[in-house]
Amino acid sequence: MSETNLRLLVVSNRLPVVISQAEDGWDVEPAAGGLVTALSPLIKKRRGLWIGWPGCGPEAPVTSLLQEYSKDAQFDLKPVVLSQDEVDMYYHGFSNQTIWPLFHDLLGHCLFDAENWSAYVDVNRKFAEVIAESIQPGCFVWIHDYQLMLVGHFLREMGLDYRLNFFLHIPFPSRDLFRRLPWKQELIQALLEYDHIGLQTVNDYRNFIQSVRSLVPEASARSYRRQSRVRYGQREVILGHYPISIDFHEFNSAAKSPEVADAAWYLHENLGSKVLVLGLDRLDYTKGLLERLLAFERMLEKYPDAQSNISLVQIVIPSRVKVPDYLDLKQLLDEQVGRINSHFSHHGWVPIHYMYRHLGREQLLGHYRACEIALITPLRDGMNLVAKEYCASTVDDNGVLILSEFAGAAAQLGRGALIVNPYDLESTADAIYAAYIMEPEERRRRMRTLRNEIKRNDVHRWVRWFLDDTPEAGDRKATSLAEHTTG
Ligand code: F6P
Repeated sequence: MSETNLRLLVVSNRLPVVISQAEDGWDVEPAAGGLVTALSPLIKKRRGLWIGWPGCGPEAPVTSLLQEYSKDAQFDLKPVVLSQDEVDMYYHGFSNQTIWPLFHDLLGHCLFDAENWSAYVDVNRKFAEVIAESIQPGCFVWIHDYQLMLVGHFLREMGLDYRLNFFLHIPFPSRDLFRRLPWKQELIQALLEYDHIGLQTVNDYRNFIQSVRSLVPEASARSYRRQSRVRYGQREVILGHYPISIDFHEFNSAAKSPEVADAAWYLHENLGSKVLVLGLDRLDYTKGLLERLLAFERMLEKYPDAQSNISLVQIVIPSRVKVPDYLDLKQLLDEQVGRINSHFSHHGWVPIHYMYRHLGREQLLGHYRACEIALITPLRDGMNLVAKEYCASTVDDNGVLILSEFAGAAAQLGRGALIVNPYDLESTADAIYAAYIMEPEERRRRMRTLRNEIKRNDVHRWVRWFLDDTPEAGDRKATSLAEHTTG
C-alpha cells in the first residue's frame, strides 16, 4: 500500500454530530468544536472513519442516519452504542465525576466508585471491539481524550499490534494528585500501551513523566528537546506536548461578515453599557464561574466609577446536567447573579447579563465582536479555545483578554493577555479595572500580539506537530498524512 493510502481512524467519546428528534423524523447536524474543525479537512481527504458514541438513546435509527450523513460529510461514521447504565456509569460516573475533577486539580469533587470504574473498563473494551472491526493495515489510528485511556490496552489484548496514537485534551495532574486514584496503576500502565501520547502543555507533559517514573519504575524515560521516549517492555512510547488551537482564518473572516457586525452592534446597543465584558463557558465548576462573579462584584465595589459603565455578559452553555455538582453549580450561579444584580442595578444599567443557553454561530461571533473585554478565568483548563476564538474574532484589535494562569492557553498567550489567578479576587478585580481603563494603543498592541500568536500556531499546525512526531507506521511515515493537512 502506498503512503498516501493511510486511512485516518479517529476515535473520540462523542461522534462529531448531534442527533435529535424532529417533528417529521430525525435531524443529524455537525457538532461544533475544536476537534471537529482540526480533523475535518484531513479525515475528508483520507475518506477516513470516525468512531464514537452517537450521544442519543436507542430509539434513534443510528446506523442508517449516520450512513446517510456520511455521504455529504465525506467521511464515514461508526457508532459505539451505549446503554443508559453505561452512559450513567462510564460517562457521567467515572469520566466526569472521577477523572474530570481529579485531572482538573479539584479533588473535592471526586467520586471514587468501583462500579463506575468497572463500567469505564467495560466501555473502553467495547470501543476497542468496534475499532477492531474496522482497523486494517494502513490505518493511522488516533484516539482522543480522558474517556478512552484504556482503549489502547484492550486493542493490544486482542493481539492488534498497530501503531496507536493518543491525545489528552484535558490537563494531566501532578503526581501527588494522580496517586489518589485507586486505579492509578492500571491507568498509567494502560496509557503506556499507546505508541505516541500527546499532551497539551509542558506542565502536563512533565506531570505525566513524573507519574510514570514513580508508578512504573521498570519503565525508563529519556528526554529530548520537545519530546521524551519511554521504554516499557518491548515498546517505545513517544511523549510530546502540542497545544491545540483554532482555525484562525475561519474566525477572522467570519467575524468580518456584515451579519456578525450587525449582531454585535445590536447587542451593544441593547445592553446599554459603555464597556461589555464577556464570560462564555460550558456549565462547569472548573471554569471558575462563581469566583468570576465575585471578582466582578469586588471590582464594582472597589472602583465605583466603573459602575453604570461596565457590564458582564455571562453566557453559560448547558452541559452534563445529570451530574449533581453541575446542577448545584447552576443553582449557585442563579443565586449569585440575582444577589449582585439586586444590590447594584439601577434604572438603565444592570451589572450582569446572564444567559443559560446555547448560542448559534452568528450570535457567538457577535458576542466576541461586541465585547471589549473577555474574562476567561478557569480554575484549571486543558487549553481553553474560547480565549483563542475571542482574539481571532477581534478583527479591529480593540479588545483585552484577561486569562487565568491555570488555563493551558496561558503558556502561549501570556505576553498579550492580562494574566490572573482566579482564586485571587482582589487582583482579578484590579485586572478587570485595568482592562477597563487601558489606553487604546496598549489594547491594540496586546491584541495584535495575541492574534499573531494564534495565527502562527493554528489548529492545522497542531495536527502537523502531532503527526510529525508520530513513530513510523511500518514502511509508511505518518508525516505523509501531515502533508495533506490544510494550512
Ligand atoms: O474538554 C474536554 C471535552 O471532552 C471536550 O472535548 C468537549 O467539547 C467538552 O469536554 C464537553 O464534553 P461533553 O459534553 O462531551 O462531556
